[in-house]
Amino acid sequence: MKKKLVLIRDIGNYEGREVTLAGWVYNRRSSGKVRFVLLRDGTGIIQCVFSEKDVAPDIFELSDRIPQESSVYVKGVVRKDLRAPGGYELVASNMEVIQIAEDYPITPKEHGIEFLMKYRHLWLRSRRQHAIILIRARLIRAIRDYFDNQGFILVDTPILTPAAVEGTTTLFEVDYFGMKTYLTQSGQLYNEPNAAAFNKVYCFGPTFRAEKSKTRRHLTEFWMVEPEVAFADLEDIMDLAEDFLCYIVARVLSECQEQFKVLERDITKLEAVKKPFPRLTYTEAVKKLNEHGNPTKWGDDFGGDEETILSSLYDRPLMITHYPAQCKAFYMKRDPNDENLALGVDVLAPEGYGEIIGGGEREDDLKTLEKRIMEHKLPREAFEWYLDTRRYGTFPHSGFGLGVERTVAWLCGLSHVRETIPYPRMLEKIYP
Ligand code: 4AD
Ligand code: MG
Repeated sequence: MKKKLVLIRDIGNYEGREVTLAGWVYNRRSSGKVRFVLLRDGTGIIQCVFSEKDVAPDIFELSDRIPQESSVYVKGVVRKDLRAPGGYELVASNMEVIQIAEDYPITPKEHGIEFLMKYRHLWLRSRRQHAIILIRARLIRAIRDYFDNQGFILVDTPILTPAAVEGTTTLFEVDYFGMKTYLTQSGQLYNEPNAAAFNKVYCFGPTFRAEKSKTRRHLTEFWMVEPEVAFADLEDIMDLAEDFLCYIVARVLSECQEQFKVLERDITKLEAVKKPFPRLTYTEAVKKLNEHGNPTKWGDDFGGDEETILSSLYDRPLMITHYPAQCKAFYMKRDPNDENLALGVDVLAPEGYGEIIGGGEREDDLKTLEKRIMEHKLPREAFEWYLDTRRYGTFPHSGFGLGVERTVAWLCGLSHVRETIPYPRMLEKIYP
């Protein structure tokens, strides 16, 4: 007979009633004449109490030896118990086994990261990983809600593309019926014509970079949300980034209290994320770095170390603008007051997390953009369609991209991005 199941997260609605739960054995312990089975169903964890007086002898015996991650149905009455984790427990009357699990590789003892990554598909069942991925899901929902509510239209951009966006050194090449194509590094080049068609647009999807270095901030496959706004300049897009970040942080804070507790995250650090954000030019940032003993010279791009120092100086995200044009992509508009500077912005997360947003104003002059494509030795033919935006009613426009994984790492207080995506892709990591 088909069972009517209740989810653990809804258990509070069933106090005093008999329910059937389905899930996996998370842990168990015994105390005198009672056995406690912690049952996990993906929506929560509840303690099921098996007493010798309440259940058949074979069930009582089973509750004492059922292996971790075995799948079961448990029937019982919901009881409020403030001492129980979650506030409720189940006084079990029966348990039906779906499968007795084989020896589960991930045990309560400590495991190394290599081992856990190899079992990533199972590791996701653990409390911390579950909390992180849930925060990720809530963050993504908040991101979508923000742009949808601000009048942005979601216009999807392709994954297979004929051209590089963010430099040619991190391209993944794909053979497309004998033609050379690439996995997209960013949806931006498509966002720009889309902004001419829909005014305020965003795209949100996986992006790819063949990052050959092993760092705690780089994945080869990561998710990026990219808004693009017609007739917006650098300052407009910075105001948007500021408002957007405040909104998504506040939403995740209000929706993920429980998960932040599991992660033991100091959320006062996130509560500090309020407008206005500090704003520095690149030149001012170099001065700050030098004052803090970092030897960066004007013209050097910032790496992880520089970002860590700078983002540790403030309690909220830091916006850095006017980088040397040589550090930035071909499409960036130059500062009309100084040709050597790009009208771009990077936003660094606090607590040493580094860059989470990159963006700026786009070059909108046809001749200048053609020149930049040449200077960057990019194949002109692959960009003809992109140049059309500058031929048919060119317009000032700006946008940015936010990396989801780096944002999750910051929100969760993690030292490495590998735990912020269900199945991380990194140099030498493609399994599972
Ligand atoms: O600064 P980036 O390269 O900017 C762009 O791609 C622009 N075309 C976006 C735009 O203006 N529409 O990347 C944007 C963000 C970074 O700030 C970072 O958060 C994330 O994408 N990112 C990565 N995240 C994880 N692993 C990597 N290898 C990343 N590369 C960039
Ligand atoms: Mg960048």
